[in-house]
Amino acid sequence: MTDPKTPAALSIQVDRAAAAPIGDQIYASLRQAIVDGRLAPGRRLPSGRDLAAQLGVARGTIRVAYDRLTAENLVFGAGPAGTRVCSQLPPRRADDEAPLDGPLAGFTRPYSSAPLPFQMGVPAHDAFPAKVWARMRTRAVRADAIAYTTYADPRGEPALRTQIASHLAVSRQIQCHPDQIIVTSGYRQGLMLALTALRAHGRTAWLEEPGYPLGKRALELAGVAVEPVPVDTEGLRVEDGIASAPHALLALVTPGQHAPLGVTLSPARRRALLDWAAATSAWIIEDDYLGELQLDGRAAPALAAGEGAERVIHIGAFSKTISPALGLGFVVAPRTVAERLVEVAAVLAPAPNRTTQLAVTEFLADGHFLRHLRQMKALYAERRSLALAHVSEFLPGTLTAGLGLIAPLPPTVDDSALVSMARARGLAPSALSAWYLRRRHAQRGLLLSVTNLRPDNVGAACATLANVVASH
Ligand SMILES: Cc1ncc(COP(=O)(O)O)c(C=O)c1O
Repeated sequence: MTDPKTPAALSIQVDRAAAAPIGDQIYASLRQAIVDGRLAPGRRLPSGRDLAAQLGVARGTIRVAYDRLTAENLVFGAGPAGTRVCSQLPPRRADDEAPLDGPLAGFTRPYSSAPLPFQMGVPAHDAFPAKVWARMRTRAVRADAIAYTTYADPRGEPALRTQIASHLAVSRQIQCHPDQIIVTSGYRQGLMLALTALRAHGRTAWLEEPGYPLGKRALELAGVAVEPVPVDTEGLRVEDGIASAPHALLALVTPGQHAPLGVTLSPARRRALLDWAAATSAWIIEDDYLGELQLDGRAAPALAAGEGAERVIHIGAFSKTISPALGLGFVVAPRTVAERLVEVAAVLAPAPNRTTQLAVTEFLADGHFLRHLRQMKALYAERRSLALAHVSEFLPGTLTAGLGLIAPLPPTVDDSALVSMARARGLAPSALSAWYLRRRHAQRGLLLSVTNLRPDNVGAACATLANVVASH
């Protein structure tokens, strides 16, 4: 007979390769077992120490999971009698049957709510140009209301594509015709268009190691085999990719500012990558998620600028430069594949909501976008140095990277457990190890975005993080 207190008997499933922090997984497994009745009212949970030892996680991780269950009135601390399941359970939540955001839990959440300190991928909430934006949107809604009741151009509004083409010429040195541009709902739709148009299913793609977890998942969902290619201080180690997967169909890269390490691809590596693509007829998908939003010096030209650009599909988005809530991005397709991408857009995923497109057109045309970018660069540089000063006090060795900081941790530290504990305290750092495809070789560390660290909250946020680190 199985011991009723083993993780298996309690149905605790821990997947160290999953994007969700381990603490979240333990909490979710226990919670499900309680609401399903598999853990009956009155039943005693194992001690934090025992469960931590059995699962090979820190005791703090278990404590946080138990605290969350206690806060939901699902379990209670019965002193020497341990932690037990409450006899009167609260009414079932509507989402108890199927937590649909399971695969993304802990990564991009919380959705549709105020950004948390250290949360990656979100711009400064307090610096969003809300007044100007509201004015542009109101005008766009009116213009759209009197527009023809026909299908909109699946590539996006011509005026927006023209604005994007001129902006890219100046800021990313990309020379393209507006007809090579397809407006999307963001990076993710751009990637989907590219993978579909390139018929990537069943082929292999190089992916940066470490690299953006959603990029990896996108490739898997599209049926593409992923070949991790290490990144060092010069960016992608192209020679390693050529050695391990010379005939890959494509390389998915962040050459401008590597996600999450922040390095720019060196000129020699850039040449090597373009040469490999030209020689093997491979494609480079350039994820230019930050565009020219670079805090040190001037951003390098995009890979899609200049010689070799005919093998580069460039994907940009306004998610970081304006807001991910807009849901707007674009693809710049080389002429040879532009029609294939347009066909996929027209048939499967046309450009989104026209009013948002019209409002962004005006935002670009009237110079608000360039002004906003200039202000954001100055603001983020200030926030980054302020945060660095605070974090370095308790995590020496912390470095700047893109719009945030990286605090490396020794291999013995469970960075995912730290992240779970921080989440329970209202902070949203990310675990560096979760960005590795080969988890066994993963570096440990905390990724700390500074975009929402203001002078009035940075001290408290860093003090809370310092407590979490000290208690781990
Ligand atoms: C590496 C990387 N690429 C792309 C994106 C943007 O994706 P989207 O425009 O779909 O929000 C992000 C956002 O966090 C990112 O970190």
